[in-house]
Amino acid sequence: MNYHIKDKGFAPLGSSRIAWANKEMPVLSLIRERFQKEKPLAGVRLSACLHVTAETANLVYTLKTGGADVVLCASNPLSTQDDVGASLVKDFQIPVFAIKGEDNKTYYEHIEAAIAHKPQIMIDDGADLVSIVHSNYPTVAKEAIGSMEETTTGLVRLRAMEKKGVLKFPVIAVNDAYSKYLFDNRYGTGQSTMDGIIRATNMLIAGKTVVIAGYGWCGKGLALRASGLGAKVVVVEVNPIRALEATMDGYWVMPMLEAAKVGDLFCTVTGDIHVIRKEHYEVMKEGAVVCNSGHFNVEVDIESLREMAKEVCKARPFVDQYLLNDGRSVYLLGEGRLINLASAEGHPPCVMDMSFSLQALATEYLVKNRGHLENRVCNVPKEIDEWVASLKLKSMGISVDKLTREQEEYLVSWEAGTV
Ligand code: ADE
Repeated sequence: MNYHIKDKGFAPLGSSRIAWANKEMPVLSLIRERFQKEKPLAGVRLSACLHVTAETANLVYTLKTGGADVVLCASNPLSTQDDVGASLVKDFQIPVFAIKGEDNKTYYEHIEAAIAHKPQIMIDDGADLVSIVHSNYPTVAKEAIGSMEETTTGLVRLRAMEKKGVLKFPVIAVNDAYSKYLFDNRYGTGQSTMDGIIRATNMLIAGKTVVIAGYGWCGKGLALRASGLGAKVVVVEVNPIRALEATMDGYWVMPMLEAAKVGDLFCTVTGDIHVIRKEHYEVMKEGAVVCNSGHFNVEVDIESLREMAKEVCKARPFVDQYLLNDGRSVYLLGEGRLINLASAEGHPPCVMDMSFSLQALATEYLVKNRGHLENRVCNVPKEIDEWVASLKLKSMGISVDKLTREQEEYLVSWEAGTV
């Protein structure tokens, strides 16, 4: 078996962490039990480009149990859990190409290794795998059944491909399922980002001014958790509706240039480039801490920060001190890569249970509908989305009401109005 991981000797720790995560992934476990009996993915070659975490391990094991021939590579150079990679290779016989801290060259070599598997199905997080297949591997693209996308940023790229008419196979927008983004993006990112910041810095959040750039679902979750820890939260937005929402949710809203003067901690979750840049570093307070929890490491302009610094040194693991020419220091966390996976463990398994159940069921859906879907970005079918939510509720011991027949009829009628 061909693979590239840090050290197979890490497998015992990885194995117990995978089992620990699995306890909190009951919906995925149910799917795995069914996959074991039905083998709906029998013989399908599948490459997944995902953060190599304990939760991902439970997904790829489920896909293998369903009969797929699975290979896994990292979707970010700094998010890999090396012990998990080791266990997947040693205990699950799943080839992994991922090493925490790999350089960009190795990162892309790992993606190439996943493409060498000639995947018929791809699961992507950020669209690096799918875009390279489209650019350089026309035969793989032509023979592919389709792919899934896990994140908002990846969907922005894929929709641009669709618009240009270059998409060569169907893509299922797993990120856009309700049982994904309302939970993973909001509660997952909210908690894991604060976890990453705290593990990296050990800073007290209470009383700090925390500036959050972007008020999408990730920004909303992050603002909620920062505020819950006692921070004064400032939101920076470009979209007037989101800015209004943030205002009425009780946060300060202002342009980054003003926020830069008052913030103690800055976190970007916009999906766009250079949200924090030179003009902002110029007015930041001494000791300002800057990080990113968006998919790519482009949101913080690190190049300008480097140019403004007379010295860069490591203050702690995942904390780089940029000593500026005027004597102030700005601290950058996790090299500007997503901090929730760089210095913490990403979203907790309880929430990844839903995202990865959707991935597993969307894979089955692609296989079942092979040749019948258009080469477009399509939604997860509503029944799958609602099935995942219902089972999650059930697993949490929560039951809900059903509409009475009278209520059902009322909802499809138009005659009855004011009584
Ligand atoms: N994205 C965010 N958190 C994650 C996790 N725990 N596993 C895989 N992908 C993730």
